[in-house]
Amino acid sequence: MNSFSNSNTFFYNLHLLGIVKVRCFSVKPLKAEKVRRALIEKGALLHEFPVMNEKDRVIFPVHGDAELSLLEGTGANVQITEREMTPRKVRPRSYKELLELDDALMPLLPSSFDIIGEIAIVKLPAELVPHRFEIGEGLRQFNRNLRSVALNRGVKGDLRIMDLEVISGDGNLETTHVENNLRFRLDPSLVYFSPRLATERMRVAEMVEEEKVLDMFAGVGPFSITIGSLGKAESIVGIDLNPHSIRYFNNNILLNSLEDRVETHLGDARDISAVLGPFDRIIMNLPHNSMDFLDVALSSMDSGYIHLYRVLENDLIMDEVRNMMSISNGLNRRMEITMMRDVHNYSPTRSMFVFDIRVHP
Ligand SMILES: C[S@@+](CC[C@H](N)C(=O)[O-])C[C@H]1O[C@@H](n2cnc3c(N)ncnc32)[C@H](O)[C@@H]1O
Repeated sequence: MNSFSNSNTFFYNLHLLGIVKVRCFSVKPLKAEKVRRALIEKGALLHEFPVMNEKDRVIFPVHGDAELSLLEGTGANVQITEREMTPRKVRPRSYKELLELDDALMPLLPSSFDIIGEIAIVKLPAELVPHRFEIGEGLRQFNRNLRSVALNRGVKGDLRIMDLEVISGDGNLETTHVENNLRFRLDPSLVYFSPRLATERMRVAEMVEEEKVLDMFAGVGPFSITIGSLGKAESIVGIDLNPHSIRYFNNNILLNSLEDRVETHLGDARDISAVLGPFDRIIMNLPHNSMDFLDVALSSMDSGYIHLYRVLENDLIMDEVRNMMSISNGLNRRMEITMMRDVHNYSPTRSMFVFDIRVHP
């Protein structure tokens, strides 16, 4: 056997043992922390292999195409090397296990986040914001189905659009979200969409009989399209003020083959609801301002049901019920709340509630 085939046999055996050759960057310990942060920020560190401390060098396993130029600015004298390494065997139970943050910061890491299609959207407390790129990278390494991770820096204006910063992955946030077997194309940096309402949308859709339905604040159309997919409604009209929402809504109607069942309108629900009515059922999913439109909804129906969504302090629900009754009394309309429930938590003291309201003729 010649030396070439000997070395091949050697490699073959190493692979059987799970040992692989890995490209590494070697640096002095004094610069190791700076280098580690830079590699994580650039997405170049291989998390499935351990960082090794060797005599007077620290060895970082990196992607095969990682360039030395990634570490410009760290001041480190970096040597490229290779090591035989065994991948970590135990799959981490959480993305948190992939992060190397100070112990004091670990309890602040969020345990849940929203996933829209292939995009994860995270909220971070101020203390974790400087570590956002490492956290984004950890999330993406842990969940291989994610294309990007974006930091939610707050919600802007009446259109409820999130101010998003991409902290890992590709900057294009347009994606396809699947909910109740329906497909919704959208870009969460341009339109509002919450993946937490899937069950609620189906609950409302299943109540719809042969009725005229108005989705007053329709977004990219998830309520309207879920109702349309069940095929019972006589007609469904969705309104939104955001041109991007209506563009995606129209696209989603086509994606789900509902072009003959759902109609869209770009505009202010205050101006066009009554003109398009009367309706038998109205969905009011504008949780911070829906009460400002209850008069419009009541003027857009003779009788029927309203599903009104509201973000409220948990101890102020009865006050809100009194407000609703005073609005309907002021318009000489009779209505009763047939069901009320907490849909999901919104903050430690607030939740999003739904009120099912029966409006009498
Ligand atoms: C909380 S989102 C709900 C979207 C959708 N129903 C859903 O479940 O994803 C509220 C929507 O109302 C729209 N909006 C805000 N003010 C409006 C108004 N005056 N008339 C019509 N739409 C409005 C926003 O653009 C946004 O898409």
